[in-house]
Amino acid sequence: MSELSVNHLLGIKYLQPEDIQLIFETADHFKEVINRPIKKVPSLRDITIANIFFENSTRTKLSFELAQKRLSADVISFSAAQSSVKKGETLIDTVNNILAMKVDMVVMRHSYAGAAEFLSQHVKASIINAGDGAHEHPTQGLLDSYSIREKLGDVAGKKVVIVGDILHSRVALSNIYALQMLGAEVKVCGPKTLIPKYVESLGVQVEPDLKKALQWCDVANMLRVQNERMEVNYFPSTREYAQRYGLDKTLLDSLEKEIVIMHPGPINRGVEITSEVADSAHSVILDQVENGVAVRMAVIYLLASKLQ
Ligand code: CP
Repeated sequence: MSELSVNHLLGIKYLQPEDIQLIFETADHFKEVINRPIKKVPSLRDITIANIFFENSTRTKLSFELAQKRLSADVISFSAAQSSVKKGETLIDTVNNILAMKVDMVVMRHSYAGAAEFLSQHVKASIINAGDGAHEHPTQGLLDSYSIREKLGDVAGKKVVIVGDILHSRVALSNIYALQMLGAEVKVCGPKTLIPKYVESLGVQVEPDLKKALQWCDVANMLRVQNERMEVNYFPSTREYAQRYGLDKTLLDSLEKEIVIMHPGPINRGVEITSEVADSAHSVILDQVENGVAVRMAVIYLLASKLQ
């Protein structure tokens, strides 16, 4: 396979396993590029990309911008908080005005599930979903699987537990799709109130006991508790959550094996994971961030090669 089967990256569920393999092989090349003294390639000199973020971001926004600059694309970035969206302009009007400036590709984060797909049906540009509500965050799913492949040699056959706030997490869904497509076994663990009922229909087992889940897995992906998406209390207190579902060094040391610790960030230190664990040799959290640039370079490069 030499090109992607899709013209947009809206979610992992729209990809084929071969698409993911192609993205990973392309990311391997770009990872080597970004570790050279000269980190830039001229691949996308004639491409203009707009990053439009209607929700806050640190890692994803900076990682996309860096990936685009490393590929020599022209980049414009737009934050809804400082834009005419605040004066009532619609999403399609906003994007069509940006496209009138001859933009080829749009990277968008939005609080509504399906916003990226909606945009792809209404505007003439390649769309990359940088997170749509609690739906998907496909580049995060890709960079997480890429980081497992890098650390453990392969994703196929590995056991991965995703811990915490599955209900509000776009990272969880994209990880589940990507990991299963690549042949990993996936369990989720967390308070019953934060595990969506549909999760078992995706072929994912629920393990309510964190210690049992950690003893089973090769990789634990500790998700952030998304307080900003919670309108009611899903657990009695942050302290109780940390006691039952937080990972600390005592729990890690009590396991009879070594496991890989992941977190998509931003971390609530002392809630889902302690600083001692986040900063330990078991953690690949900063490798995930580094790999995010290479994976996003690969996605942008492969989608740009499909532009007419
Ligand atoms: N992992 C992630 O999406 O982080 P940001 O919200 O900082 O982009």
